[in-house]
This record gives sequence, C-alpha cells and structure tokens, in this order.
Amino acid sequence: MSMITDPALAPDGERKIDWASTWMPVMNRVRDRLKEEGVMRGRRVAVILPVEPKTAYLAATLADAGAEVAVSFPGVMVHDDVAAGLAARGVEVFARRGSTHEEELGFFEEVLARRPEVVIDDRADVIRLAHTTHPEVLETLLGASEETTTGVLTLRAMEADGTLKVPCIAANDARCKYLFDNRYGSGQSTVQAVLDNTNLLLAGRRLVVAGYGWVGKGVARRARGMGARVIVSEVDPFAALEAYHDGYDVMPIEEACEVADVVMTATGVRRALPLSAIERLKDGALLANTGAVDDEFDVAELRERALETRIVRPNVEEFKLEEGRSIFVIGAGVVVNLSAGEGHPVEIMDLTFSVQALSARHLLLNAAEMSPGVHALPDEIDEAIARDKLDTLGLRIDRLTDEQQAFLKAWEAFA
Ligand SMILES: NC(=O)c1ccc[n+]([C@@H]2O[C@H](COP(=O)([O-])OP(=O)(O)OC[C@H]3O[C@@H](n4cnc5c(N)ncnc54)[C@H](O)[C@@H]3O)[C@@H](O)[C@H]2O)c1
Repeated sequence: MSMITDPALAPDGERKIDWASTWMPVMNRVRDRLKEEGVMRGRRVAVILPVEPKTAYLAATLADAGAEVAVSFPGVMVHDDVAAGLAARGVEVFARRGSTHEEELGFFEEVLARRPEVVIDDRADVIRLAHTTHPEVLETLLGASEETTTGVLTLRAMEADGTLKVPCIAANDARCKYLFDNRYGSGQSTVQAVLDNTNLLLAGRRLVVAGYGWVGKGVARRARGMGARVIVSEVDPFAALEAYHDGYDVMPIEEACEVADVVMTATGVRRALPLSAIERLKDGALLANTGAVDDEFDVAELRERALETRIVRPNVEEFKLEEGRSIFVIGAGVVVNLSAGEGHPVEIMDLTFSVQALSARHLLLNAAEMSPGVHALPDEIDEAIARDKLDTLGLRIDRLTDEQQAFLKAWEAFA
C-alpha cells in the first residue's frame, strides 16, 4: 500500500506522466523490449529517485513490464500529484512533499522491507542503508544502479574500503547520461528554476558558478546564453583552465562573491560556498545549489547568522543579514532544479532513464557473474541507446570503412 499525500490528485499526475511519455521515444522502445522479453516479470525493483513525471514514467515502465516496483524519495523533491498518479498505475509509492527526516527513513524502510532485487539509487542512500542498518537486504539484493556523480563517488569509497557487497552500475558514468543529463539537462533546468521562481532578468547580472564539471559547464553555458556575465570558481587547475578557454572569468569564490549577483553551486562538495564568502555578497544576491550535496552552502548556518528570515515567494527565502542587506535562497539550498522545478527536460531523461532501465535489465540477467564493486554500463548498451536516440531524431551518421578501421589499427605506416 502506497503512503502518499492524496490519492485524489492522481488524474493530474497521470496527465503529467503521459505528457512525459510522449517525448521519450527511446524509453518507449525499451518498454516494448522489456515487455516482450519478460525479463522484469515478477522481479522486485526499488526506484529511489525524485518523484516527478519522468522518474514516474521510468517506474511505470518497469511495472508495465511486469516488475513489482517500490518508489521513494525525500519530500523536498516530491510532486504529490505525480506520486498519486504513479500509485494509480500500480506502483507502490512512499513519498510525500514536505515529509520529515524521520518519515523519510520510515519510507526507505518500507522499500527495504520489500527486499528489492535491484535498486535504482540516488546519492547511494538506500545502498548505504542496506550495508549498515539493514544488512538482511543484502541476502536477496542482486545489485544497484546509481544515478548521481556524488553517489558513484560514495560507492567507489565503499568499494575501496571493502564494504561494498554487491555489483553496482555507475549509470551516471554512461556517456548517454553525463554528457547530456549533467550538462544540458542541469544547465537548462537550473537556470530555468532560478528564473521561474524569481521572475527576474539574467541579462547583465554577474553569475558565479562554483564547480566547472559537467553540471557547471552546462549552467555557465546556458546562463551566458541568456546574457549573464559568468565567473567560475574551481579547485581543479584543469577545470579552471577549461573555464578560462571557454571565455569565462576565473577567480576564488571569496573574490567572486564580492561582485556576484547570483551564485550557483555545482561541486558535489560540502561548503563549496562557505559562510565567509556569503558574508561578502551584496544586497539582493541570489543563491542556489544544483549539486547533489545539500550543504554545498550551509543554509542552517546562514539561518543562525541571519537577523531575520521570511518566505518572500514560493521556493524563495529571504535572509536579512545586517544594515538592510538581504540574500535570497532559491529552493532551500537543495538541488534547485528538482526542489524548485520539475527537473531536467523530458527529452534528456529519455536518455538517462533508458540507461537506468537497461542497467536494471543488465543486473537482473548478469549480476550473478559480476563481482561486488562499481561497474560501467557495457559500452555496447550505451552506444545502442545513443544510436536509438539518433534514429528517433531522424539523424544519420557515417560509419568507418574497413580501410579506415584497418588504418586506425596499423602502427607500421606513418601516413
Ligand atoms: N541538479 C541536477 O539535476 C544534477 C544532475 C547531475 C549531477 N548533479 C550533481 O551535481 C554535482 C556535480 O556533478 P558533475 O557531474 O558536474 O561533477 P564533476 O565531478 O564533473 O564536477 C564537479 C566539479 O566541481 C569542482 N569542485 C569541487 N570542489 C570544489 C570547490 N570547493 N570549489 C569549486 N569547485 C569545486 C571539481 O573540481 C569539479 O570540476 C554532483 O553532486 C552531482 O551528483 C546534479
């Protein structure tokens, strides 16, 4: 039995899921294949992802193909209508907008009690629980597939100290995921979430992006496209040089904050934007985090420091510091495109969730032969998704001739 806010919201949620499904042609092919093969039939799958329309379509697809699917996620990234729509499609959903931390742990326990064979995880939250407080789950768990850069780092740390007991696919590291989802998906939806929630203009504003990885690159590019003057802060010399050669200003975060109108964190690291840098911001500066770590800037610390706080618009909180100086935080400092928006554009998630559905399939078919540890999605699966996407877009590409392939393998000739 699902635990959701209001089953009566189902029609709205179902409409949103239907809308997403019409723009996910590769997923639709995956759905047809899974149904035909019967690989999912009767298998138990947990989906730990933000409850929004595209994720819901992934979960509904697995259920449609015969799996018993349980879904859960912390409430700041839950759309109650979508949760209800998904529950109406026969998926067990344990998620409510605004849930407390205790409730969320209870929801995860409900999912774990269903003894999933495969977990599609986010930030490795449920895999971590299975390895610490709920080891009984490992008896029947075949493996997991991890969505985020941050979660993959966690799994690698668990692998390095010998803790990880099941094979895990680093879905994030598939090219069909990070090249598009992290960069173009986060780029568009992060900028969009901040602008939609504030109704402000980006053109002419100085926007600081902390972290110039895949997500930071996407945010910087889309922000510049809307007229922002972009500054990058980094700790990695190569990433900083890339930002410079892409035409952005590069400077330490404390200096960048002296001139910033908007700061967006995209590092996956705690306190990438420390309070000391926030202290330097001018009146009216906007802050948002799009990394998967909730305290890339520490909202609790900022709250303690503030003279007063108030909600000024949905998803926008004002922090009055001193002498009338105010800082505005969008989306409570938690992954802004999901906490204060609907997440990535649908077509992007067509790729990401094809990766996830086929990772789950791969685990169900092959986990017994896979060692505990972090595995890549096999290249042929990744490439087949990319080729399917091109096909559904009506795009054609060339192939290497036999002669060209032989040339690439020959070392004897110089030219
Ligand atoms: N918002 C979303 O929908 C979304 C989508 C994909 C990934 N993510 C999350 O965003 C974060 C970044 O992901 P990514 O794929 O870009 O990772 P990445 O590893 O490609 O990039 C992270 C960058 O941040 C830099 N960095 C680390 N600490 C820093 C600091 N203190 N100051 C400045 N720069 C610093 C690193 O040098 C690196 O270049 C992760 O937490 C990831 O899980 C969010």
